[in-house]
Amino acid sequence: MPIRRRAALALMGGGTVFAASALAGGFVATRTPEKALTAWKLAGGYAEPRRRALSYAILAPNPHNLQPWLVDLKDEDVVVLYRHQERKLPVTDPLERQLTIGMGCFLELMIIAATTTGHFVDLELFPNGDDGPVAIGRFREGATPDPLFAHVMNRRSCKEPFDLRPLPADKIGELTSMAEIISRPDRVDTLRDLTWKAWKTEAHTTHALKESVDLMRFGKAEIEANPDGIDLGGPFLEALMIAGIVTRDAQLDTQSYGFQEGLRIYRDMLMATPAYAVIKTDMNTRLDQIAAGRRWLRLNLATTSLGLALHPVSQALQEYPEMTAHYERAHAILAIPGQTVQMLGRLGFGPNVEQSPRWPLESRIVHG
Ligand SMILES: Cc1cc2nc3c(=O)[nH]c(=O)nc-3n(C[C@H](O)[C@H](O)[C@H](O)COP(=O)(O)O)c2cc1C
Repeated sequence: MPIRRRAALALMGGGTVFAASALAGGFVATRTPEKALTAWKLAGGYAEPRRRALSYAILAPNPHNLQPWLVDLKDEDVVVLYRHQERKLPVTDPLERQLTIGMGCFLELMIIAATTTGHFVDLELFPNGDDGPVAIGRFREGATPDPLFAHVMNRRSCKEPFDLRPLPADKIGELTSMAEIISRPDRVDTLRDLTWKAWKTEAHTTHALKESVDLMRFGKAEIEANPDGIDLGGPFLEALMIAGIVTRDAQLDTQSYGFQEGLRIYRDMLMATPAYAVIKTDMNTRLDQIAAGRRWLRLNLATTSLGLALHPVSQALQEYPEMTAHYERAHAILAIPGQTVQMLGRLGFGPNVEQSPRWPLESRIVHG
């Protein structure tokens, strides 16, 4: 049986995949990891303003869906945000730049959600430098709702091929205050080539590949037990797991059929990109990384509002030795000397995709 496109994407670490399979019967009906998606259903269902805002913030995009956030709520009207010290990506994110961007996404989502109960959040970032809390957020009244909130529940990172029709100029115009949008065909071609080569390098760098494979959740039971990482779910993939075709070991074997087929399919997805969004900063401090994450989150909500799909493709921006040539090329193409490209994303018209799993809010509160 040929491996279907969605399955192959999942094999290669694409993220949430609920394979739209031709398989019929009760097996199909029971494969959705309901428990792992409960956080989406509970969002907004808290009376206390901080918990309500946080119930949305935990839906923020973040690298490999590690959800490395912990909050302390012991002081009234205050959220102290920490990075989870065991949820890291030491190979592909050795400087924790991407994890910090994810914290920026979390903070911006918390701030946007807080406006819907009339709260501003005053942020104090890294009050003790890099070792202590990421932020202290103080809630106070007086805000009006942020219109981007309307798109929180539909926001996704869309890991699928996009329609190749050019993006309308008015839609691009709506996004340029948040990111540089690249749609000129020759530049798009260059970035397709960059993202594909960087992705291949990652897939063939054993310790980088293993970091992803270790985070794969194979099938509903694993996804429900650990609602994070790279979730390989849905009836089609689970049938392949039962057949012994999709296994952790096979994912590490670059000679295997599944791996090779996945390469081809992932390449097709990367090529099916009509435009890119880029966020860069003049410096690369923790504050810049938080700011980049906040912008990315707003961008992702704005693309959602415009009916556009957005998909981060971060490999070429990663700071490990095997990636250096792609990192340098990315910066030569996208930045001036001294700048750091913080986010690069595919942008276009894409299909609707499912929500990705989340740990419950309660599991992320250290003192409440
Ligand atoms: C800093 C950062 C880097 C990311 N890099 C990638 C990436 O290279 N490839 C990818 O498929 N997704 C990437 N993502 C998206 C995450 O995988 C995604 O946010 C997570 O799985 C949760 O899914 P959701 O955004 O649809 O809720 C990145 C997200 C962030 C915040």
